[in-house]
Amino acid sequence: MRVITTVADMRQARREMVGSVGLIPTMGALHEGHLSLVRHSRTHDDAVVASLFVNPTQFGPGEDYTRYPRGPDRDLALLRDVGTDFVFMPPAEEVYPQGFDTYVQVEKLTQRLEGAARPGHFRGVATVVTKLFNIVQPHRAYFGQKDAQQLAVIRRLARDLDLPVEVVGLPTVREPDGLAMSSRNAYLSPEERKAAGVLYRSLEVAQELWRSGVRDAALIRRRMNEVLAAEPLARIDYVSVADAETLEELEAVDRPATVSLAVRIGGTHLIDNVTLAT
Ligand code: PAJ
Repeated sequence: MRVITTVADMRQARREMVGSVGLIPTMGALHEGHLSLVRHSRTHDDAVVASLFVNPTQFGPGEDYTRYPRGPDRDLALLRDVGTDFVFMPPAEEVYPQGFDTYVQVEKLTQRLEGAARPGHFRGVATVVTKLFNIVQPHRAYFGQKDAQQLAVIRRLARDLDLPVEVVGLPTVREPDGLAMSSRNAYLSPEERKAAGVLYRSLEVAQELWRSGVRDAALIRRRMNEVLAAEPLARIDYVSVADAETLEELEAVDRPATVSLAVRIGGTHLIDNVTLAT
């Protein structure tokens, strides 16, 4: 496994790669969710490139950029174990040099949900992902369904800007109680960690209602809100039952839907989602 820290060296390494190239962008603090994406690329691509970069432009002013968990030695050991060929791990000045002034903005799709809760977040994500696509030039890039809106934004941007990359979305990896794995789970105290189980319980209620034939989106949202409200440590940011592609809120679940929610537990912003589709 080769660790690369400059854009020039990454480009040179790319020129020497043979066959299909897979890219897995990450911010490190790796867990099974990240590793499942790398393993998938390992079985589908000739060369596997993972990036480790805590991207400053996707964090808002009051957010956790400086305290975001960083542990490059552990991350590199995990990436080596799952068969990564190249790790792109640039310092912030390499990605955003003095005078950097160009951003990528996906317009409508970023106005709701996480985009509304975290202004500027998706502009930072879209910009860094476009740069990573340009630097690494992968055939395929792998993202988790866990961040459903992020995945939709990246699919949109690849389509709109004719980026020659196949964007692959893969299922959410969960803890035994259903909590979606996330680097931010490390912020939770034992009590908060227990309370965080409420996110998946709320999503399960949506799935159960849908399976029993309920198609009234407002009713599904209401039941989900009731489950969340019963957990005193959870503060609800949003509950959404939306069209899976446009993320526009639905009245009736008469097409594939993404049910998503965001909750604050202590100071920690947690998100999760499931898809409802026949
Ligand atoms: P990060 O939160 O590190 O996540 C990297 C990738 O892992 C994303 O595609 C995310 O959806 C996926 N992932 C996270 N938790 C997962 C889980 N439990 N199951 C499956 N996949 C999971 O998302 C980012 O970083 C950044 O925004 C990034 C795309 C790297 C741009 O900076």
